[in-house]
Amino acid sequence: MNDTIVILDFGGQYTQLIARRVRQAKVLSQALPYGTSAEEILALDPRGIILSGGPASVLEEGAPRCDPRVFALGIPVLGICYGMQLMGVMLGGSVKPAIKREYGLQDVRLDSDFVLFRGLAAQQGCWMSHTYQVEILPLGFSAKASTDTCRNAAMADEARRLYGLQFHPEVTHTQQGMAMLRAFLYDICGCRGDWEMADFAKRAVEDIQAAVGDGTVLLALSGGVDSSVVAALLYRAIGDRLHCVFVDHGFMRKDEPEMVKAVFSRTFPVSLTAVDAAQRFMQKLRGIADPESKRKIIGAEFVAVFREEAAKLGPLDHFAQGTIYPDVIESGAVAGATVIKSHHNVGGLPKELGFTSLIEPLRMLFKDEVRQLGLMLGLPQEMVMRQPFPGPGLAIRVMGDLTPEKVQLVRDSDAILREEIKLAGLEKDINQYFTVLSGVRSVGVMGDERSYDYAIAIRAVTTDDFMTADWARIPHEVLARVSRRLVNEVPGINRVLFDITTKPPASIEWE
Ligand code: XMP
Repeated sequence: MNDTIVILDFGGQYTQLIARRVRQAKVLSQALPYGTSAEEILALDPRGIILSGGPASVLEEGAPRCDPRVFALGIPVLGICYGMQLMGVMLGGSVKPAIKREYGLQDVRLDSDFVLFRGLAAQQGCWMSHTYQVEILPLGFSAKASTDTCRNAAMADEARRLYGLQFHPEVTHTQQGMAMLRAFLYDICGCRGDWEMADFAKRAVEDIQAAVGDGTVLLALSGGVDSSVVAALLYRAIGDRLHCVFVDHGFMRKDEPEMVKAVFSRTFPVSLTAVDAAQRFMQKLRGIADPESKRKIIGAEFVAVFREEAAKLGPLDHFAQGTIYPDVIESGAVAGATVIKSHHNVGGLPKELGFTSLIEPLRMLFKDEVRQLGLMLGLPQEMVMRQPFPGPGLAIRVMGDLTPEKVQLVRDSDAILREEIKLAGLEKDINQYFTVLSGVRSVGVMGDERSYDYAIAIRAVTTDDFMTADWARIPHEVLARVSRRLVNEVPGINRVLFDITTKPPASIEWE
């Protein structure tokens, strides 16, 4: 059995990030509601307990509290932010509003003799987000870190193995936060680092089997990373009782539909319905130049095609979706987290189709973990490691109205660009790169002939989060090679542009 860390969730926006950091340190973690009883926690035989942050104030009436026996189990407990303040008040100390709300990166002085900070920089930037702080430490505790306005930025009662951090070690802004968490897991809790993605897969397969029984599952397979990983996982759990519907809208990249069909008929022989709906989509989009209208029409048509195909399959028992943790946050399903955009992966489809049972095995994973899981399950590298690709696909990379010829032109040029980036060994350095067919035609010369053809643009960006981006400094020789190949190999192109705009003000896509 894996060493387990229990995370008691007080509704903080970083709870799953803590879970992910624990997994990153190769330790199994399980997030439980804050009110979970000491007996239930003991039943899991955890090596340690982490109390998460949370939006409430410990001074409020009815503020969430954990079972007080949690502190007397003899199991190490680490309280983070709200978790530390709660530990403070529940053990007899006091909490009061900070003189100044600390938010963002703060300079923290650390006691480098303290086990959590041993060997770390004695002064470093740590991420804070709090209005309250522990004023008087509970009996037996001593301060282990401070800032200019917070005397007790970390505290510990080493005899009882109880620890508190006012800042967030789980966010990357805290310079050596991961080292602090590792010290808790390894040096304090004695974890061995015995968890790996294969353990996640094993457990997920068991959970799916328990949920599905001998029933059937419907999955909308888009060919993207998330739905492909769900399909591979479900295949492992229930074999061909998994029915996948793959709608090819005609705007995928070169060879992509073929790859999806090959992988999910040979490597993972699920029950696959592949629909070539390219003509149907193109008809609906005829004469439509506005980007948002294109998106809406594609979304609606996707649902229409999917519904028709699902109806043909007859009634199935469950609906599976490749929702991953960032989607969960963005859709506002996490208490305390702000809604950023409504989750539009499959646009409310399960409800519309009458499914009440939703299977979302990747719900708690971050993107890089999903990729890792995909590789582990045996999906091809090209499928799992690829750059993001928008749902509406190449349709939003042809400026203005669409024709099959224009889509083919952008598809062929995109394939050439990708090939050259790969050959130049730049795949890992550039986060997203593609070509865009500008609406512009310009005059050129080909042999002795005058040409009047399209200009194609190369868009390539580096970014951490796709919210802001810089244009990638692709070496001139590589650009020269791509340009030469584009004008020579793709009929209809006589000019190549390189987009050197940051986001903002430009967006990554042109539409
Ligand atoms: P922008 O163009 O907004 O792109 O800077 C940011 C990221 O989002 C992707 N993107 C989309 N993804 N459907 C999607 O699934 C869309 O309609 C869409 N529009 C943009 C874009 O490729 C980039 O990674």
